[in-house]
Amino acid sequence: MSGSTITPWVVGNWKMNPMQADAKQLVQNLKKLLQDQEIAESACQIGIAPISIALQSIQAELQSANRHIATVAQDVSRIAGTGAYTGEVSAELLKDSQIEFVLVGHSERREFFGDAPNILNEKVQNALNAGLTVIYCVGESLEQRENGQAEQVVLQQICDIASVVNAQQWEKIVIAYEPIWAIGTGKTASPADAQAMHATIREGISQITPIGQTMALLYGGSVKPENAVELAACPDINGALVGGASLNAESFYKIAQAFANTK
Ligand code: PGA
Repeated sequence: MSGSTITPWVVGNWKMNPMQADAKQLVQNLKKLLQDQEIAESACQIGIAPISIALQSIQAELQSANRHIATVAQDVSRIAGTGAYTGEVSAELLKDSQIEFVLVGHSERREFFGDAPNILNEKVQNALNAGLTVIYCVGESLEQRENGQAEQVVLQQICDIASVVNAQQWEKIVIAYEPIWAIGTGKTASPADAQAMHATIREGISQITPIGQTMALLYGGSVKPENAVELAACPDINGALVGGASLNAESFYKIAQAFANTK
C-alpha cells in the first residue's frame, strides 16, 4: 500500500544545539526562506525541535512566520502531571506551554539516557493522555542489520508501545525510522532499503490499527538536500526527521521543499 497521499512532515531535530543567538538567527533565516518561496501548509508540515529551555522563545519566534511551523519537544518525562520530580518536564506542562508535539524514543535517548521500553511506554502514554502528538523513533544498529535482525528489531519497538496506545490514539502517532548507523554519520540508507523498511513498518502497524495505512512514516539519518529528493520519491517515506542539516536554514528548507514537491 502506498502512503503517497499522506501530507509529509519535515522536522528539524536540533538535539543539544545551538547557542541561543544562533538559534534565533536560524529561525529568522528559515522564516525568510519560507516567506520568499512559500511551501504550502497542505504540501508539507514543518516542525522544529529545539533544546527544552528554548521551546518557548523559538515558539514565539515562529509565531510571526507566514505559515504554521510546529514547535516540538525533544523528550518528555515518564512522570505525568506535576510534583516533586527535580529536573523533569511532564507532558501536561508541555501542553500547558502550547507545545503539541514530542519526540519519544530517539536512539540517543535509548543509548545514553536509559530510555528502556518500559520507560518509553510511560512517556508515550503520558504524552497521548495529555493530547500531544508523538513522533516515536525506531531503528536498528549496524550489528542488528548485519545479523539480518533489522525488521524484527524495528517491529518489536513498535509492538512495545502498542500496549499503551488505544484505538483512537494511533491518530496521534507518527513513526520516524532512523537506522542508528545512519544518524550523524553521513551514511544514509539507500532509498530502496529505506522504502523496504517503511513498507514493512506500514504493514506491521496496519496489523495493529487501520490507521497504519494513513500514518506518516518519516525517515531519519543523514538526510540532506542531496538525498532528500530520492527519499521523498519513495511511496512510504512521508517526510524526514533531520538532525545535522536542520542547523542550516537553507539545507532544511531544501529538504522540506523536496518533500513538498514530490507529494
Ligand atoms: P542526522 O540526525 O540527520 O544528523 O543524521 C537525525 C536524527 O538523529 O534525528
